[in-house]
This record gives sequence, structure tokens and C-alpha cells, in this order.
Amino acid sequence: MAKQAQATWGGRFSAGPAGLMQRFSESVSFDHRLAPFDIAGSKAHSAMLAHVGLISKQERDAIHGGLDAILAEINAGKFKWRTELEDVHMNIEQALTQRVPAAAKLHTARSRNDQVATDMRLWFKAACAELSAKIADAQRAILAIAAKNQTVLIPGYTHLQRAQPVFLAHHLFAYLEMLQRDAGRFAVVADHANWCPLGSGAIAGTTLPIDREFTAKTLGFVDAKGRPRVTQNSMDTVADRDVFIEFAAACATTGVHLSRMAEDLILWMSSEFGFVDLPDTFCTGSSLMPQKKNPDSMELIRGKSARLQGNLHTLLTLAKGLPLTYNRDLQEDKPPVFDSHDQTALCLDVLAGTFAGMQVKAARCAAAVSDPALLATDLADYLVRQGVPFRTAHHAVGAVVKLAEQKGVALNQLSLSDVQSVHPAYQADWVESFDLAKAMARRAGTGMPSPAQLRRQFARWQKQLA
Ligand code: ARG
Repeated sequence: MAKQAQATWGGRFSAGPAGLMQRFSESVSFDHRLAPFDIAGSKAHSAMLAHVGLISKQERDAIHGGLDAILAEINAGKFKWRTELEDVHMNIEQALTQRVPAAAKLHTARSRNDQVATDMRLWFKAACAELSAKIADAQRAILAIAAKNQTVLIPGYTHLQRAQPVFLAHHLFAYLEMLQRDAGRFAVVADHANWCPLGSGAIAGTTLPIDREFTAKTLGFVDAKGRPRVTQNSMDTVADRDVFIEFAAACATTGVHLSRMAEDLILWMSSEFGFVDLPDTFCTGSSLMPQKKNPDSMELIRGKSARLQGNLHTLLTLAKGLPLTYNRDLQEDKPPVFDSHDQTALCLDVLAGTFAGMQVKAARCAAAVSDPALLATDLADYLVRQGVPFRTAHHAVGAVVKLAEQKGVALNQLSLSDVQSVHPAYQADWVESFDLAKAMARRAGTGMPSPAQLRRQFARWQKQLA
């Protein structure tokens, strides 16, 4: 069924879009969340139009008053979104037109193409700030667990085989580093978003005497010195979706990090590891097996990280075949970006909540880290200190490990003559290599897990996250 010619571009049409086309074409169901940014953009644009004399100050004020009223209605949940008006931009413009005659001048020297690019850049700046704050919250929750368990040692793993002892805090500080890099990526994305598209028009700017720098300044698209940042090529501006891809990549990378942390916690909560207990509030039970307590929050983070990667892939594929400049395909850029934001935000909150309620089972950790074999490398270092070349020392320790296995005893239970039969450099103090406290204190360099280094890192993170 054809509708009345469309109000926004109806001049050259004799029929409006079919009902099916309206449903197919609408984006307001998901881009309505751009409303605050769309309204900020329209207020800045109309302020600029008044500044250069394209509209009067009275018209500007009327437009601003109408937009403020619309935003208040939207925030109160009273605004009626209409899918037949397609997107957030036309919904707001139409509502404004019904209230304020001057609204008919608002779209002067503007297209939805530079409008949506502006809305999204404003949105990206806000979204990056929000996610950075959530990252800091998650980091604080992790830091608190580290602070509560400063003396707990666990085996560190490579190949999921016990490797060397580390303080649990050292492992947790690795998470802080990963998340800090994620925050850094969001800061870069926010900086890349910080260029004002308005004035690019549909593709080739405008013949009207606008002031792009004025608009950019009004919207906060400025550099560190407060100088306006405006995009430098109108065609690139309306076609460019790099920031979308970069944002989704930052979310996907954060998702990979969160997923790896989640995987650690899933393992650590298993009976096999038993290092931690996750809070009931972030676990679920089984509908059949009464004894089960499952780490669903962490499994869902692991699962959602796949979705974040999918969103990135959607955006890359969406952009790759498009001729310059704007093509309607690009409307499909928003669902993956919004989903990446929403899911990343949720995952960060859930991670913070799970860590906040996590209990460390110190006795299980101590038992796991008590195997002297974890300090086999320290024994090789002992031989190195006796002047043995490392390759030879490695071999001499390997042979001792084998001997202990053959005798069915722990590594530190072998006698001095046992080890001296392998290499004469072993002295009576060889067995001191298995003193965990001394072994940890020796790992004294930057980035290593000695207690002294850990105190340094604590101080650093406490300052960073204060
Ligand atoms: N809703 C549209 C989008 O998100 C806005 C831009 C529409 N431009 C156009 N020429 N149809 O892409």
C-alpha cells in the first residue's frame, strides 16, 4: 500500500514508501538513542546559522526552545517515536516543525549525512568516556581482591601446566595492565572521533556562507588548546566509518581480555583448581543436579566476546565494498556499534561484581604452590650462580627431576649424594632453592613478582585508580 508522498523529500515523489518499505527502512527503533546528540548538533548548527546571519536570533532561540522541550519529553519517555518518519533525525525535525515555524530553516546547509556522522562522533566520545570509567571500576574491584590477599601464592601456568610460583596479586595485576591498555585504546578512539563533520553536507558542502569552526567549537570538537577541529574533506567525512571500526575493535579487544580473565576464574572455581569461590549472586545452579554451582557470569563473558568480534567483522564487511560516498548500507553501522557498547559495558560491570564477591581459598592455593618442582628453574639458577653454564644447569636439574620421579620422592627430598651424582656443582645448600619466601624475594627486577616489586605495583595502581 503506497502512502502519501513523504514530507521530507516529497517534492519529486507521487507516492510515499510502502508499509513494508517503511518497516524495512526505519532506523528509529535503534537510533533514537542518538537523540541527545542529535539535539546538541541541531542547537550548535542553528546557533551557527544565526551567527552568520542565515537565520535570525529570534528564530535560533525558538529552535533552541523547541529542541529543549523535545529533549525533555524524550527523557521523560513521553515523546512519540514514529517509524514512518524513518530515523531519529526526521522524528525530531518533524516534531520541531509542528511546534516552531522556524524549524523549517534548521536543515539549511545540512544533510542527514553530515548530521548522522556528527551524532555518532559525539556519541563515540561519550561512549568511550563511559567505558573507560567502567574499566576503572573493574580495575578497582580487582585491586581490592589483590589487596585482601597480598600473601597468597599460586602456581603460574604455561601450557596450562604448573610453571612457577607467583603471588596471586601479580596475576591480578596482569589483568590491570590488560584493562589499562583497553582504556588507552578507548582514549585513542575518542580522539579520532574528535573532528566535526558538520558543513560537509550530503557530499560537497554548501554554497551558503557557514562557519564550520563555530559549530565545531560549540560542540566541543576542539584540540587540547581549544582550537576547533573540523574534518578536511567533505566526501571522506560522509563516507568514513573508521571510528566505528576502531570502536568495535577496542570493544572486541576488551572482550578478548575479559574472556581470558573469565576463563581463569572458571578454571580456578573448578574442584580441580579450587583457588577461588565466586559469589552466589553471579553464579547459577543446575535444574537437574542439586550440587551444581556454575560460573555462568564468566561463561557469558567468554561467549559475549565472540559477539563483540562478530560486530567488528560486520562493520569491516559493511564498509569494504562501498563506493564513495554515503550509501544507505551505512545505516546498518549502528546496531553492531551500539551492541558492542552495551555488551562491553555489561561485561565490565559483571566482571567488577564477580570480583567484588570473590573469595580466595588460601589453603588450596598454598597446597597447589607447595610442589617443589615449581622451583626447578630456581635450582638451575643456583647452579648458574655456582658457575655452571645455563644449558648444562638446565640438563643437570632435569636429570634430578627424573631421579626424584624414579625414586618416587619430591624433588627436595633427594639426598646431597643423589644430586651430586648428577652434577658435582650441587653443594649442601642446594636444597635452600626450595625456600619459597627466598625464591620470591629473588625475583626483584621490575615487572617481577617479588614482595618488594609487588608493593611498588600496589602503590602505582592505588595512585592510578584513586
Ligand atoms: N538514518 C540514516 C543513517 O543512519 C541517516 C542518513 C540518511 N541519509 C540518506 N541520504 N538517506 O544512515
